[in-house]
Amino acid sequence: MMNVVLVGCGAMSRHWLDAATRIDGLAIVGLVDLDAERAKAKALEYELSSAVIGTSLDAVLDQTRPDAVFDVVVPAARREVALSAFAYNCHLLTEKPLADSPENARAIIEAARRAGRVHAVVQNRRYVANVRRIRRFLESGAIGRPTSIHADFFVAPHFGGFREEMAHVLLLDMAIHTFDAARYMVGGEPASVYCQEWEPANSWYRQGSSASAVFDLGGKVFTYAGSWCADGFRTSWESAWRIVAERGSITWDGHDALKAEVVVSGREGLFDKTAPIEVPALDPTDRVDGHLGIIKDFMRAIETGTEPETRGSDNIKSLAMVFAAIESAETGRRVTIAQETQ
Ligand SMILES: NC(=O)c1ccc[n+]([C@@H]2O[C@H](COP(=O)([O-])OP(=O)(O)OC[C@H]3O[C@@H](n4cnc5c(N)ncnc54)[C@H](O)[C@@H]3O)[C@@H](O)[C@H]2O)c1
Repeated sequence: MMNVVLVGCGAMSRHWLDAATRIDGLAIVGLVDLDAERAKAKALEYELSSAVIGTSLDAVLDQTRPDAVFDVVVPAARREVALSAFAYNCHLLTEKPLADSPENARAIIEAARRAGRVHAVVQNRRYVANVRRIRRFLESGAIGRPTSIHADFFVAPHFGGFREEMAHVLLLDMAIHTFDAARYMVGGEPASVYCQEWEPANSWYRQGSSASAVFDLGGKVFTYAGSWCADGFRTSWESAWRIVAERGSITWDGHDALKAEVVVSGREGLFDKTAPIEVPALDPTDRVDGHLGIIKDFMRAIETGTEPETRGSDNIKSLAMVFAAIESAETGRRVTIAQETQ
């Protein structure tokens, strides 16, 4: 049995508790939130009557001595929560983003290493079946090596809360999903970025609701255009994608429409002929299922002493794309992305 304390009982905790309460061998032994009423409400809703409720993570860890902490707090509290978890010798599964600054990310990873605990991030887009299908398809070489990746993200949510108050909100709180997915799909490591942020005249955010970035992703170009303040023609939360390769392209609308075309012999006027090519379904053993899949992998990593796919020491490379994009937006210059050697 893996005993877990979940900290941060806000909006996102529902996804964690929906998944966690479906897993045999996992018990939620504590629920923590600065607002005790939120923690109590979750205990009631998920029938966790024996869970210890508290407003201080340290106090609940002291009382329950769990194996792991699930961190669902706001990004600004990530470091404090992580250091408490490792101080109590707990493994840590944390919401994205891994941290709210490069310094905090490195400090958290270093603390995990010193404690010898598993530390992973809920970078749940990797556990979306079509993201994995794209990676497998490109790996198969069916349309040659990818040369450029393009992602569009246009959604206009009214969240209220911390997002409307924070700086660089789109890059820090959302784009990490898209950047990590791009890195994953083409297996590339980021080398540089130029990024510009803007605030639409009608924006309800403090700063950074909209951004456009061009990355060098291991010799491939990755263009990102995104806005959290763009009413009309909403894209999927997973973004809308086009990946161009040496002998064809693949497009994904971020929902179910995943299509590829490959160059075939012959010409039609100016153009090489192309034909549709099937993107194979996933092997049933491949890992999907969002939060549920990630939590199960986290548990498996602890049991088997292996490293989970979304381990912090790898995820920091995706986070480096975010911080470099922010630096570029602030300075107006292209920024080199140093290899994270964590
Ligand atoms: N993976 C995803 O798809 C996804 C989607 C949405 C949000 N998120 C992430 O989930 C995290 C939480 O987002 P949310 O929408 O649930 O926010 P929220 O504001 O609804 O909830 C956060 C909760 O954390 C509590 N909290 C803050 N600091 C704390 C501390 N030090 N100790 C205890 N509790 C503390 C707050 O009181 C609040 O109840 C964020 O990092 C966000 O980026 C991830």
